Order: sequence, then C-alpha cells, then structure tokens
Amino acid sequence: MPGTIETYFDKLERTRVWRSIFRSGKGTSTLHNALAIQQNVFLHLFPTKVRKRMLGLGATWYLGTLTLGTFIVLVVTGILLMLYYHPSVPRAYSDVKDLQFAVSSGLFLRNLHRWSAHAMVFLAFAHMFRVFYRGAYRAPREFNWVVGVFLLLVTLLLSYTGYLLPWDQLAYWAITVGTNISSAVPLIGDKIRFLLLGGHLVNANALLRFYVLHCVILPLTAVVFLAVHFWRIRKDGGLYVRESEPGAASHEQQSSNEEQKTR
Ligand code: HEM
Repeated sequence: MPGTIETYFDKLERTRVWRSIFRSGKGTSTLHNALAIQQNVFLHLFPTKVRKRMLGLGATWYLGTLTLGTFIVLVVTGILLMLYYHPSVPRAYSDVKDLQFAVSSGLFLRNLHRWSAHAMVFLAFAHMFRVFYRGAYRAPREFNWVVGVFLLLVTLLLSYTGYLLPWDQLAYWAITVGTNISSAVPLIGDKIRFLLLGGHLVNANALLRFYVLHCVILPLTAVVFLAVHFWRIRKDGGLYVRESEPGAASHEQQSSNEEQKTR
C-alpha cells in the first residue's frame, strides 16, 4: 500500500544520510529547537533565543531584512544576466538589446534586476533612518552602525558600477560625469579617476573594470560585511529593545547575558 508523504518523510529523516547532515534529530523541545539553530551553518549566525518583541513589525519594520531580500534577488538575477552579457565594447550594448527583445523573459529579468537595485538603495537608506530614529546605533551597537555605513557605501557603489554596463549614452555620460567628480578630490583625485577607469577615458578598460567590480569584488565585499553585520547583532545582545518596552533588558544586562551564552 502506498504511504503518505508524511510516512516517506518520516523514513527519510531516519536514514543515515539525513542524520549525518541534520544532527539535532526530531523533536519539539526547546533543546531540539536550540540544537537545530546551533548546528546549521547558516542559522548559527543567529541566536537560539530571541525576545518576541524584537520580531514584531514595530521594532525594525523589517527594513534590514527587506534590504537583504533585495540583495538576494539581485545576486540571483545578476548571475542569470551574466549568462547573456559580454563586457566588451562591440557586444555590451547589443547583448542588452538582445536580452530585451530576443531572450525569452529577458526583459522581465533585466527589469527585475533594475527595480531590485533601486529598491535596495531605497531600503538601505530607510533602514539606516529607522535605526537612527530608534536610537539603535548607541552603545554597544556603534560598531555595527559603522559596518552599516560600509554596507551603504558598497550598495551605492554596486548601483553606480552597474550603471555603465548597458553601454548606452546614459551610461557613458553618467560615468563620465561621476568619474570627473571623483577627480575633484584634493591631491589624489586624478589618481582615483585613473584607477576607476583604467586610463584617462571611459573606454573598454573602464567597462571591464566596472564589470569586475560590479560582478565580483563588490558583491563579495557585501557578503563579508553582511556576515559581520548579522554576527554583530547577536554579539550586541540581539536587536535593540527600548528600556520602557516589555521584554527589554538593560544594555549591560543584554551584553552580560550574551557573554554567558558564548562561554
Ligand atoms: C546592505 C545593506 C544592509 C543590510 C542588508 C542590513 C541588514 C540588517 C538586518 C537584517 C538587520 C536586523 C534588523 C532588521 O531587519 O532591520 C540589521 C540591523 C541593524 N543594522 Fe543593518 N543592514 C544594512 C545596512 C545598514 C546601514 C546603512 C546601517 C547604518 C548606517 C545599519 C545599521 C544597523 C544596526 C545598528 C542594526 C541593529 C539594529 C537594532 O539593534 O535594532 N545597517 N541590518
């Protein structure tokens, strides 16, 4: 007699392969839940216990999480776009046009990437303002605020470097203006412009440099900073809860709780 999905799943969970990957086993106890978090490479960045209040919409408006969501969409759509795009002067413009008019769902893919990029910039700013107005940048979270500033910078650089890749008039002149602005930095301005463009003009070298920055260097930098950002939230005693709010502990208490947990 054929079994139900639950029985198949039950059997799968008992297999040696499954047990070698998910070690915490079955169970609904607090211990099992804690082990499930601790023993997962992705989840163990997060604490095993959080205050309910921190998870409510009012604490963060989920703006940081939404920013992360757009970043993930950008990585996925960006990888798909890389399959159709060549970062060379004869190919770049026509590849983007092909993507829009010839590739199946290409226009959707390009627009999803563009709109997610706009959304990420907007959400990162909104998240920063939210953190500021809530006062969540104060001790012991100052370092995470600084990490956030770097993340904002990386987000803006990602947006800026992506702008050149379609290699159309808008892209060309935007990068010409932008890099001219960078050359106004006192003493080292011309050097910065040269470094960005790989020469004195917006040409093939600049296109290749912006491509490598946009697709490799900046996304990897963002991932490293994000890992520090999330780990730091945990080390700072979780998300900020005002003293007057239910479930709040003082900063000192929050930090010492966290220290005890990590011992
Ligand atoms: C790529 C951009 C960023 C991403 C993906 C991101 C992600 C997150 C996430 C998921 C959280 C948890 C709370 C929430 O969902 O809102 C958080 C908290 C936090 N973020 Fe960001 N963040 C980014 C940029 C920034 C910026 C620009 C700042 C400030 C300059 C910042 C400062 C903070 C601080 C201080 C916290 C702790 C807030 C608290 O304890 O309530 N982040 N971030």
